[in-house]
Amino acid sequence: MKQIEIIKPDDWHVHFRDGEILKAVVPETTKNFARSIVMPNLIPPILNGKDALLYKKRIEKAIPKGEKFKPFMTVYLTENTNKDELKESYKNGLVFAVKLYPAGATTNSDSGVKDLRKVMPVLETMAEIGIPLLIHGEVTDKEVDIFDREKIFLDQKLDFICNSLPELKITLEHITTKDAVLYVKEGNKNLAASITPHHLALNRNAIFVGGIRPHNYCLPILKREIHREALIKVATSGNLKFFLGTDTAPHLTNDKESACGCAGIFNATYCIQILAQLFDNENALPNLEKFVSRNGANHYNLKINDETIVMVKSNQTLSFKNYLNIDEKQKIKIFKPDFSVFWRIAY
Ligand code: NCD
Ligand code: ZN
Repeated sequence: MKQIEIIKPDDWHVHFRDGEILKAVVPETTKNFARSIVMPNLIPPILNGKDALLYKKRIEKAIPKGEKFKPFMTVYLTENTNKDELKESYKNGLVFAVKLYPAGATTNSDSGVKDLRKVMPVLETMAEIGIPLLIHGEVTDKEVDIFDREKIFLDQKLDFICNSLPELKITLEHITTKDAVLYVKEGNKNLAASITPHHLALNRNAIFVGGIRPHNYCLPILKREIHREALIKVATSGNLKFFLGTDTAPHLTNDKESACGCAGIFNATYCIQILAQLFDNENALPNLEKFVSRNGANHYNLKINDETIVMVKSNQTLSFKNYLNIDEKQKIKIFKPDFSVFWRIAY
């Protein structure tokens, strides 16, 4: 038996949805994480401080009694976002960060940004007062190959934002390529990146193992093995600019197992155990705490959590539950990697 104690992790990118799904998924996150940044891509999206506060209250109602968990709320950037209202909501603590979805890039992103120049005044205000910008970094042109959309975004869009506003705090979210790793590593000090457990665990072959695997379909889409290796290398290196954002994105199995299945992987349940195994496989357990508990807090100028968790490794593999049940008819598939996990959370 091997045992480690680490500062309680944070998840800097979650989708909690709403209604019955929210009630079911929130406890899966709160049992292992102290804080999360909550994505605003509901239908309709969270557009202002007032909506964010109401959504936050619905999330707080779903936190099991006795658990301490802090959701940090975001608003969805549109070409109509009002910068004065945003400033006010940030100062009042209603809004923690702003999310940029290029229009059409992913699930529920129809109201996203089409023309970056139109949101520059809002980004300038954010840079002035310190509001972080969270970016879904993919171009959306239909002509661009789906596997190249992140790389092209770096060249065509991110470079422009970073050069125009070096003071803006930016998180390039759920990065998937060696190009993004390099860009962020060499970028200015205000630029950091989050990485998901599934992009660390799987390459794009996982979408097509013996047939099409809708539960391994997410956006940005899984990439080649060389890219996964670059992500593993940087995540396990302890580099301050890279941290966990799970992008846990629940969809009902009916919506995934469909002729036009939704993008998103629900990984909240065993995320930390899977990461412990991945770091262990790389002989990098001493850097796990940096990736899951320290680097993100540092990027967002927050204190690290007071609490700790204890994890143990035994020679018995962890048995995964397959589904999270929403009601008698509806369920969500829980992410399970294609390797054995020997780590558990003891307390
Ligand atoms: C997310 C979702 O379902 O909301 N899907 C996904 O594949 N990651 C949206 C997103 O973060 O891109
Ligand atoms: Zn997401």
